[in-house]
Amino acid sequence: SSHVENDLVNILFTEEQIQQRLAEMALQITEDYEGRDLLVVGVLRGAVMVMADLARSMPRHLEMDWMAVSSYGSGTKSSGVVRILKDLDTDISGRDVLIVDEIIDTGLTLSWLVNNLSSRNPASVEIATLLRKPEALSMPVEPKYVGWDIPNEFVVGYGLDYRERYRNLRDIGTLAPHVYS
Ligand code: PRP
Ligand code: MG
Repeated sequence: SSHVENDLVNILFTEEQIQQRLAEMALQITEDYEGRDLLVVGVLRGAVMVMADLARSMPRHLEMDWMAVSSYGSGTKSSGVVRILKDLDTDISGRDVLIVDEIIDTGLTLSWLVNNLSSRNPASVEIATLLRKPEALSMPVEPKYVGWDIPNEFVVGYGLDYRERYRNLRDIGTLAPHVYS
């Protein structure tokens, strides 16, 4: 079918549920960072939607910057190779940094990013992620803010892609089998 929504078989989280959860996370973050400057770093490209909605749910001043990393350097994620495709435009020395991503899968991306950003002498580095797959985790990552833990299933929507498609869906769900064939 040509209509993107028709390819979702099982909706895990609706737009309303996502916005509700992000609002709760934003409230907690706002409390935790009270009286401190906050730099939010989004991980391109999947985190675009979460960044936009989480940041707009925070009734405080903040700065936004972006990084793009690739973990496909040697073919597969399991190679453990991460490289920077686009670095921060901001000097984070002495800054409170909150990395925002939409999912922690193996943990490779964020464990590498936390190490990389920590070496730049920030005041703090924390992680906010909408989703986490505990069963897939193979690297040490301890996000301070987690929207939901989910089973080890392939999910798309709200920034999450399958072959670069489905990022623009408002809901998060699993794909119908016909998509893969
Ligand atoms: C996806 C996702 C996370 C990362 C999680 O990004 O957006 O950033 O993988 O997987 P991991 O925990 O196993 O590292 P991807 O590198 O596919 O690029 P994208 O954000 O452009 O989709
Ligand atoms: Mg990503």
